[in-house]
Amino acid sequence: MTTSLVTGCAGVIGSHLVERLLSRGDQVIGIDCFTDYYPREIKERNLTGARTNARFKLIEGDILAIQDFPGVDYVFHLAAQAGVRKSWGVNFGVYTRNNIDASQRLLEFYKDSRIKRFVYASSSSVYGNAPLPFNEEARPKPYSPYGVTKLAAENLCHLYHQNYGLPAVSLRYFTVYGPRQRPDMAIHKFVQAALNGDPIVVFGDGTQTRDFTYVSDAVDAAILASGSGADGAVFNIGSASPLTVNHLTALIGEALGRRIEIRYEGKQTGDVGHTRSDISKAGQNLGWEPAHDIRNGITKFVEWFGQNAARAAGN
Ligand SMILES: NC(=O)c1ccc[n+]([C@@H]2O[C@H](COP(=O)([O-])OP(=O)(O)OC[C@H]3O[C@@H](n4cnc5c(N)ncnc54)[C@H](O)[C@@H]3O)[C@@H](O)[C@H]2O)c1
Repeated sequence: MTTSLVTGCAGVIGSHLVERLLSRGDQVIGIDCFTDYYPREIKERNLTGARTNARFKLIEGDILAIQDFPGVDYVFHLAAQAGVRKSWGVNFGVYTRNNIDASQRLLEFYKDSRIKRFVYASSSSVYGNAPLPFNEEARPKPYSPYGVTKLAAENLCHLYHQNYGLPAVSLRYFTVYGPRQRPDMAIHKFVQAALNGDPIVVFGDGTQTRDFTYVSDAVDAAILASGSGADGAVFNIGSASPLTVNHLTALIGEALGRRIEIRYEGKQTGDVGHTRSDISKAGQNLGWEPAHDIRNGITKFVEWFGQNAARAAGN
């Protein structure tokens, strides 16, 4: 039986990936230490489905405190301290620890193993304000401390591939949304505010554009990358169809069937002007393309939010 390790298994993308791997028949070992970036209760709910499956095993622990990792066929490394805005100041140490040091620990452990693939969840944040569309050949120049740590870990994956032949592939995810989306992220916050009858807070004037990735498309990409021979490579995973934040709020209003009030506030440090992916490389090499556009993705998110509203309101 194929065995897969998913770090950050209680998080948004990790929990969806665990379910997908279980549904294809893998034995799945998840690692998560339930950091307090958002409530444990939410992460526990993310794992509800997985926990009913006898082929799922959770190792609750911090990657940096684990001495012996399990022998597996595939490693999907998603554990990280996410979030651009909190990555400044005293918090930076949390980012270097969970994003760089923890990645190095895993790479060091698996460098001499016979794993078939090490898939790393990188981020579009590595691009900063690069020319559009963001292309993998562009020189990454992060605009936030978070982006710096994601790029450092991506570089570590690359150098363990070069020096030890570790079959590592990095996926640069563009803003991931859909069911379970983190409560600190825009679509989640916007829908919650609108349903509470509060104004949606937009940082900047709303003309900034963002490229969004639906969570099951992000999971598809991880599965395809694990089966590819694209060792050492980096791929953009996005929609290639960005929209302005103002347009996004209008789509949310449409999906909710209500008028949205917006309150504009100052631009946040680390927020880039625009993101837009060039996804041709993932298409050609992984056979991946997004199955969701933002309109149907938001409809699905709103449906999920409605079914989970009472619980989500406790966020
Ligand atoms: N969600 C997005 O829009 C997005 C975009 C680009 C990249 N990514 C990357 O994808 C990955 C998953 O993102 P997400 O939104 O699901 O995040 P998330 O915060 O929901 O999940 C990350 C999980 O990692 C765990 N974790 C953190 N440090 C750990 C450590 N040292 N040991 C064990 N567990 C640890 C946390 O407890 C959390 O459950 C991250 O690497 C993130 O940087 C996400």
